[in-house]
Amino acid sequence: MKRETVVVLDFGGQYNQLIARRVRECGVYCEIHSYRTEPEKIKALQPKGIILTGGPNSCYDPGAPSCDPALFSLGIPVLGICYGAQLMMNLLGGTVERACMREYGRIEIAVDTECELFAGVSPRTVCWMSHNDYIRTPAPGFQICAVSSHCPVAAAEDSERRLYAVQFHPEVLHTAEGSRMIANFVLRICGCAGDWKMDAFAREAIAQIREKVGSGKALCALSGGVDSSVAAVLMARAIGTQLTCVFVDHGLLRKDEGDDVEAVFGPAGEYDLNFIRVDAKDRFYEKLRGVTDPEKKRRIIGEEFIRVFEEEAKKIGAVDYLVQGTIYPDVVESGMGGESAVIKSHHNVGGLPANVDFREIIEPLRTLFKDEVRAVGMELGLPRHLVMRQPFPGPGLGVRILGEVTPEKVHMVQEADAIWREEIARAGWDEKVNQYFAALTDIRTVGVMGDERTYDYAIALRAVTTSDFMTAESAQIPWEILQKATSRIVNEVPHINRVFYDCTGKPPATVELE
Ligand code: XMP
Repeated sequence: MKRETVVVLDFGGQYNQLIARRVRECGVYCEIHSYRTEPEKIKALQPKGIILTGGPNSCYDPGAPSCDPALFSLGIPVLGICYGAQLMMNLLGGTVERACMREYGRIEIAVDTECELFAGVSPRTVCWMSHNDYIRTPAPGFQICAVSSHCPVAAAEDSERRLYAVQFHPEVLHTAEGSRMIANFVLRICGCAGDWKMDAFAREAIAQIREKVGSGKALCALSGGVDSSVAAVLMARAIGTQLTCVFVDHGLLRKDEGDDVEAVFGPAGEYDLNFIRVDAKDRFYEKLRGVTDPEKKRRIIGEEFIRVFEEEAKKIGAVDYLVQGTIYPDVVESGMGGESAVIKSHHNVGGLPANVDFREIIEPLRTLFKDEVRAVGMELGLPRHLVMRQPFPGPGLGVRILGEVTPEKVHMVQEADAIWREEIARAGWDEKVNQYFAALTDIRTVGVMGDERTYDYAIALRAVTTSDFMTAESAQIPWEILQKATSRIVNEVPHINRVFYDCTGKPPATVELE
């Protein structure tokens, strides 16, 4: 069955992934493509609708990103947003000019609720504007269907050709009724059924993997993180024991994490696959002995991980496929999906092994956003604690121990971190913060315990709120929770006699404490 698809044509705007998110929230599959994509290629995707995104340029400038006007005569509904709206007007004979005043922020507009895009929307509604240029006159055939005090054409429609232009950004939450407008476009105007659901995705993906892999063999590096776990389960459901998962336990995981992963994927778990757990603790500790520089530690852990994985792969012999847990934001950020070529700032442990004999890479989650990956994981029966797991860096506790990493220090940070997570969860704060953990500082100070003088380590607790992990704020954890965790840590974890709370945001700090 052909999947209903809406195509987002990316003109370099900052909210483009959000547009795709909103469309998918309507139960419609959505892909982002560069504005350079040829109309023929777009047509071949048989989209039910096309959305032109915002972007930083002026459409009348020579060399500004454009699209083939043929796009508007394919008979496919088009919604232009901000730059996309101006471009549509410009190409179809309207006028776009520099506004004498930039319109920025939450602006009230008056809409014509007879227009299908605004069905069920309040006649006066607040939306998010961010533009220097404005549409002075709409193109022939278009009717104005929204205005603001500074914007004579806040929205325009050509209901016959099913072309729509909005100057504001319906995809951002500041546009109070933006989701409804996008739903109106996707469901009413494009006529999508909205039946793209995660159970359907899982079924389709499993069938596709089966067909692709046939009787071949696949190999997956399992880290215990959300993406590699869901990718592994999807593969396991499709090809069973033709899949081998190698889980490298580098001894830098959180308390009991290695056993948790084994409980799910190992022989006692419910999935039918070959599971190999490699206990490589000693090798990693040996390599890290005497190393204090954080970048050097990261490099050593990353390289050693690949080496261990390669050794295991060699024992298995040639495989047909190597499974990667790449997800959609990785695809878009690496410039493959749309226009924005953001360089990924982090590498997951693993990278791509050079000495593994495989024919092709298979990426079963390549089209999904993170929360969709989680939904698929739940659908496939993965335990909630694994699916909802907070981010954990590939190099693990290696970057949460300042200074030299030793087995004793790993134990200290594991214990303190487990207590901190337990207290946060017990107080219900696990739902309010996005990441929280303990790190072991390299500071030793004098303390007193009973009648004895101590000279022990200080633990730092961290908890942050963030939407994208690019910036973050230190969470205002209630004092009672901090006090309880502090008292438990100093009492229950040997060689810790002090606890600090990190009040720094990002910037100037980072989320991790390394
Ligand atoms: P920073 O410390 O750079 O971290 O503010 C931002 C987010 O990225 C996570 N992080 C990593 N994730 N591999 C990963 O998969 C890594 O090497 C890595 N380093 C940091 C960090 O936990 C936070 O969520």
